[in-house]
Amino acid sequence: MNQIKTFSDRRSHLLSQMQTGVAIIATSPLRIRNRDAFYPYRFDSYFYYLTGFDEPEAVLVMIAANSQGNAEQILFCREKDKEREIWDGFRYGPDAAREAYGFDAAYPIAKLNEWIPKLLENQPTVYSMLGQDAGWDACLISWINRVREQVRSGVSAPNEIRDVRHILDEMRLFKSEEELSLMRHAARISAGAHCRAMQKVKPGMYEYEIEAELLHEFRRHGAQAPAYSPIVAGGANACVLHYIENSAQLNSGDLLLIDAGCEFNGYAADITRTFPVDRRFTSAKKDVYQLVLAAQMAAIATVQPGNSWDRPHQAALQVLAQGLIDLGLCQGSADAVIESEDYKRFYMHRTGHWLGLDVHDAGEYKQNGQWRCLSAGMTLTVEPGCYIRPADNVPQHFWNIGVRIEDDVAVTAAGHEVLTVAAPKTVEEIEELLS
Ligand code: GLY
Ligand code: MN
Ligand code: MN
Repeated sequence: MNQIKTFSDRRSHLLSQMQTGVAIIATSPLRIRNRDAFYPYRFDSYFYYLTGFDEPEAVLVMIAANSQGNAEQILFCREKDKEREIWDGFRYGPDAAREAYGFDAAYPIAKLNEWIPKLLENQPTVYSMLGQDAGWDACLISWINRVREQVRSGVSAPNEIRDVRHILDEMRLFKSEEELSLMRHAARISAGAHCRAMQKVKPGMYEYEIEAELLHEFRRHGAQAPAYSPIVAGGANACVLHYIENSAQLNSGDLLLIDAGCEFNGYAADITRTFPVDRRFTSAKKDVYQLVLAAQMAAIATVQPGNSWDRPHQAALQVLAQGLIDLGLCQGSADAVIESEDYKRFYMHRTGHWLGLDVHDAGEYKQNGQWRCLSAGMTLTVEPGCYIRPADNVPQHFWNIGVRIEDDVAVTAAGHEVLTVAAPKTVEEIEELLS
């Protein structure tokens, strides 16, 4: 993809939405794990969306219109440093970064404190990201205060701080063809990892051995990292929604729930599959699996432009509520089970979320108090589940069954595209792969 143009078009779009003022957007800080060891670095998604620049210690400053009426796009980044590059590797430095990434100007990050108050002089509004990092919020206030100190020289300080995410969230919600192709790639790698897990699993293995197979498959296909901590949950662990310990042994008769997806060039995949460790779906586990699958297919069928965001969730609920009644786990009519929320004993989360640079991606779910309509370019997960914990009023043969099935779906002009089709999910497909 023509990277410079993609990112500079996004910056121009943001500037046209801002109309006036200055946007100041920092990337994520490096975070210390202990002493002088750092966590693996991951850029800030908003900053990356606007720049494509993946080095730490960088800030984008954009001025909607200077005195000549021209917009300015400025990058502050680390300077070239021959000594540090021996230890940490290549860094662009301002001159090369400006050239390679198409900014109007670039300066050393060490100049930020000196420059920002100058850039804020006589500007009405600052657009930034508030509440993400207390240190950053304090910097922003101190820069504005430094401008305010010049009031008797006739300089005015911004009188408004706005959250730039309000504009950027809406932009990020609609994926371009370039973004979709990155998401397809992340989805393909992740689906391959689920297939590998199905092929490797055996009773007696440990959950972390399967986690290792997933990570191996992600990395050998060039994914930079998992998009979130993988959940590899055998048996009762599948009923712990955010189980990431992945330390238990897999027993014959267990279902294994895997929720894992990779990040490729910034974009996330998010897939869940559930399958038997000893290769055959049987009895109650098969019934629950078939129910969740039917709910998931019904939900995916409603991913169509013009339908409300809530439609897939309601479609999944209808199927799940009726199924829970048929299995004897809930009583009454499906509508009554939904109305009373009795199903929440077994299905306590919603059916999906936006997906993109972040696994739980940017974007409002409601507008003016109403669930928003799906439209082409939006990308979401569809992930109903059923989690049955031991309880007096639950027949024992259902205890500790946890099933979730999750696919990534892009809304298209004609309907939808399931990005994660390569991960098998029917009983027949899974049993064939397992055998
Ligand atoms: N893997 C996180 C989620 O499914 O929302
Ligand atoms: Mn998800
Ligand atoms: Mn997931």
